[in-house]
Amino acid sequence: MKFVYECNDCHEIYETKQVFYQCPKCAALNDGTSFAQGNVIVKLDEHYLQKLKRRKNLSVTDFLPYEIPHPDCYPVGNTPIVKPLRLGKQYGLRNLSFKMDSVLPSGSFKDRASQLIIAQALHHKETRIALASTGNAGAAMSCAAAAYGLEVILFVPETAPANKLMQSVLYGATVVPVAGSYDDAFALSIAYTNEAGGINRNTAYNPMTIEGKKGVSIELFLQMGRNVPDIVYVPTGDGCIFAGVYKGFSDLKDAGLIKNIPLLVAAQSRESNAIARAWQTQEFTNLAEATTRADSINVESPANGRMAVRYISESQGWATEVDDSEILEAQLELAREAGLFVEPAAACAFAALKSDRQMVLDRFGEHFEVCVLLTGTGFKDMAVFDGRIQIPEAIENSAEAMRQRFAL
Ligand SMILES: Cc1ncc(COP(=O)(O)O)c(C=O)c1O
Repeated sequence: MKFVYECNDCHEIYETKQVFYQCPKCAALNDGTSFAQGNVIVKLDEHYLQKLKRRKNLSVTDFLPYEIPHPDCYPVGNTPIVKPLRLGKQYGLRNLSFKMDSVLPSGSFKDRASQLIIAQALHHKETRIALASTGNAGAAMSCAAAAYGLEVILFVPETAPANKLMQSVLYGATVVPVAGSYDDAFALSIAYTNEAGGINRNTAYNPMTIEGKKGVSIELFLQMGRNVPDIVYVPTGDGCIFAGVYKGFSDLKDAGLIKNIPLLVAAQSRESNAIARAWQTQEFTNLAEATTRADSINVESPANGRMAVRYISESQGWATEVDDSEILEAQLELAREAGLFVEPAAACAFAALKSDRQMVLDRFGEHFEVCVLLTGTGFKDMAVFDGRIQIPEAIENSAEAMRQRFAL
């Protein structure tokens, strides 16, 4: 399929068959104090997109710029849509749903991006993929590479918590701790691919990460019988998932398959609110410090912040900030009231909906279709329950002890 790249900032079009990362002119302006510039958007051929409208059988892969080889060895997609019986009633939202990307192979949404990066690598006959990540992106890339037999070089700040790296080590990635920050690891991974070759999968830096993530929107469209929700809540840190969600709907619109892009809501922790702040002020200044317990969305300089802010406005959506206490409460509520076990970052999206609930009901009514993206499994971060959840003590193995336990 034909595609070109468009700079998100200066809108210059780049036409190349080589792997392409950033608009060189805008990326040269980056000085580390404000949100990065120069990220590019993959633009699919318009005529191709319009032909899709007439196709009877559509799949997510019809919208992807590279063919996915052997999709069954790393099955990404078709994640369930859960319609929560109890929570829907409790909040008066009749058409509430959760998109469970926590069930993807490595346990997070990031598998969507990693699948397309594998396709990109194989298309360009590369066998090595490098990236910087302290968490889900690294785990997803390592998982995918294990499935396809490719090599992953993962740069991490030396302070990255061991439990977050464990998955990547287990999948067989070469993990390289760097004495420095995440930004240092990011820069070193780029220096690595510049010198050693291979594909760089840094989030937002490689536009195929956002392009892969768009699959969730196309999948929703297909699962909902060629329909889309009215509002989608997206947990947001760097703003890549948010941009991917927008891009999927935007491709559907360009193909003439939907009329309107849903309202997209960027859900952020108040302790890591760079994108929400930028959306309110239109100033793209990095945070001095981000401190949310929802570590997957803890971001000071959002790698895709400018594009995310643009897409909040273009979808006529908004950004909602919630406290960490609301996030952790939402996490427990999802487990107890809906049987959904997700990590704090994912719970942030539900916490944001809870906080917006009255406004949503007032503005749109109880029948509005609201979809919340649950992006990561709760098993990713069990330490978050330390001191919050107690496992009951054992009773003696006797009928007497059992009777006592239940006051029978
Ligand atoms: C589980 C989960 N949810 C949400 C996010 C936020 O995505 P983004 O940083 O693209 O905004 C991430 C990013 O790592 C994540 O791992």
